Order: sequence, then C-alpha cells, then structure tokens
Amino acid sequence: MAEMAEGSLPHGGRLRAAAHHWRIPLQHWLDLSTGINPQGWPVPELPPTAWQRLPEEEDGLVMAMSAYFGTAPILPVPGSQAAIQALPRLWATSRVGIVSPTYAEHAQAWRRAGHAVREIGFDDVERHLPMLDVLVVVNPDNPSGALRPLAQLQAWRAGLAARGGCLVVDEAFIDATPAHSLIAEAGRPGLVLLRSLGKFWGLAGLRCGFVLGPRTIIDALHDEVGPWALSHPARWVAQRALADAAWQASTRERLQRDSARLADLLAANGLESTSGCALFRWLPLGRARELHDHCARKAILVRHFPEPPHTGIRIGLPADEAGWEKLADVLGAWQP
Ligand SMILES: Cc1ncc(COP(=O)(O)O)c(C=O)c1O
Repeated sequence: MAEMAEGSLPHGGRLRAAAHHWRIPLQHWLDLSTGINPQGWPVPELPPTAWQRLPEEEDGLVMAMSAYFGTAPILPVPGSQAAIQALPRLWATSRVGIVSPTYAEHAQAWRRAGHAVREIGFDDVERHLPMLDVLVVVNPDNPSGALRPLAQLQAWRAGLAARGGCLVVDEAFIDATPAHSLIAEAGRPGLVLLRSLGKFWGLAGLRCGFVLGPRTIIDALHDEVGPWALSHPARWVAQRALADAAWQASTRERLQRDSARLADLLAANGLESTSGCALFRWLPLGRARELHDHCARKAILVRHFPEPPHTGIRIGLPADEAGWEKLADVLGAWQP
C-alpha cells in the first residue's frame, strides 16, 4: 500500500491505494472497507448561492437540527472527526479512559493534547471509573459494531458528572438504530454526544457532523473550530438530509435487511460474524490477512485489523445486486 502521512492512522476507503497496490483498475473494485451506507441520501442540485455566499447561522439548519436531535445545545462541525480532534483541547490535563479496541482517532487525539490515556476493555470500565475524569465510548462500536447498554452508559454519565467528569459517546453509527442513542439525555452535565452525516446518510465526503452537550462545552468548542467551520454547501445539504424523515425510515429498514443478509452470506461461507451493526459486520479471525488478500486479489476491498489479539475483518454492505453477487462468488471461493 502507498505510504500514509506520518502520524496518520489507517482507515478504510483507501481505494486508490488498493488499486495501485494490487494493480487492478479503480473501476473494477467493490469497496466494502468502510461502514458508510452505499446508497446515501440523494443530494439534489445546489443553488448557486450555496457556493457564492458565506454560510449564515439563520439559514434553517438550527431548526432542522432541533427537529432531528432535540433542543439540547448543538454545534455542527466539519465531520465528527473535527470534534474528536478539538474536544481534548477543552480539558486541562485529565485522566481519560477509552473503551477499546475502537476507532483509534479518539486515543490519538487525547494523547496528542497531553492527557493521560488508558485504553480499557468494556468489562473493566467499572473498576477504572473512579480514577477517570473523562470516559470515551463509541456506540455502536467500530469495528465490532457492538451496541452498549443504555442503562450502563447512563450510570457512567451520572457517576462522572457527580465529580465534574464527562462521558463522551461517539454515536457516529447510531442513526440506523436511534432507540440506542443517549440523545434524550443530551445537554445534561457530563455528557457529550458526537453524531455524523457520514455513515447512515452516506455523506462522508460532505464532512458534516454534530456535537451535543452542555452549553459551556458547546460554546468552547464553537470558539475552537471558529466561524464558518461548516461550508455553506454542507449546511444546505445537512438541513435537508436531517428533515427527510421518509428517506430515513425506509433506509433504516433497508439497512437492517442488508446487514442480516450480509451476516447470512458470511455464515453460509464458514465466516461467522460475532457482532456488527446495521452498516457493517465484524469477523474476528486469525486468518484475517489471508481473507483480506483473497478478496483484494478479486478486487473487493475489506478492512483488515491486524493488531493481535483483536485481528479481524470489518466488512460493509454492497450497494447493489451486482455487488452482492460478486461478494458471494469471492466468498464462495474462500477455504475456511
Ligand atoms: C466511530 C467513528 N466516529 C467518527 C468518525 C468520523 O466520521 P466523520 O468525520 O465523517 O463524521 C468515524 C469515521 O470513520 C468513525 O468510525
């Protein structure tokens, strides 16, 4: 694979690098290496003013956000990734626990901001909680797709808030299963929620996410990201995507169906996915590298996680029947 910038972490979706490495033209690839909805929200043509004029706070996005998320303080950001990087700068040096293994950008961002970071297994959180100022949980988790029990998260928030601490929950993948969100608690002390238009809406290229939390944190984060952080086109699209309840309802149904279909297809080929969410499945596998390379030789890109003891493959949803057929063929030729 092509070199990455120093200090940057590996991610899915690096299709051009894969095409170069495996010497297969870009157009032949099926990219299943991310958890992005492959049938994203259909973006209409934008009015010229969206490109020409600076974004304005009174453009209607605030109302669309309140209608979708509720009335807690919210800040739209250029991708939840921007918030992941900016949030740690709001805290004085703290003891930060990250429920791991998970999306590696969290640990990296808190470490870079000078905090003492401990990566903790989900089952060990109770033991560590009294020693933490901040706890970060990704729900559903990436790459395992595991959903964390709401009651557990609520209890952790209460425990941290009582000491002036904070629970950060990255809900980037929650929109397909909104009943599992902590959104009803948004705005309460000691809780920050991160949301994204990149996953369920399939608008990863738009770079749009949201942060919900107590007013003081949202205001400090606003100062940190500065004015016009979200482009006018991104605000225009976000407002309409958040308001499209009919698309959201049918997409939730389709994603649940497709995720179950993927789990069945994997199982039928001797690959039992132990967990997953509506947008991807997780295969813990000693032979993860072999399965990745087997797929890549046939121009299917899946995401390989090489770190023992959590080696495995995360695999996303094909966009169409041709994609499903190609995946079925390639998995059918795998020797479990
Ligand atoms: C768990 C999780 N959170 C946040 C992000 C960042 O997403 P975005 O910046 O597109 O909102 C990602 C991206 O892969 C992710 O996997």
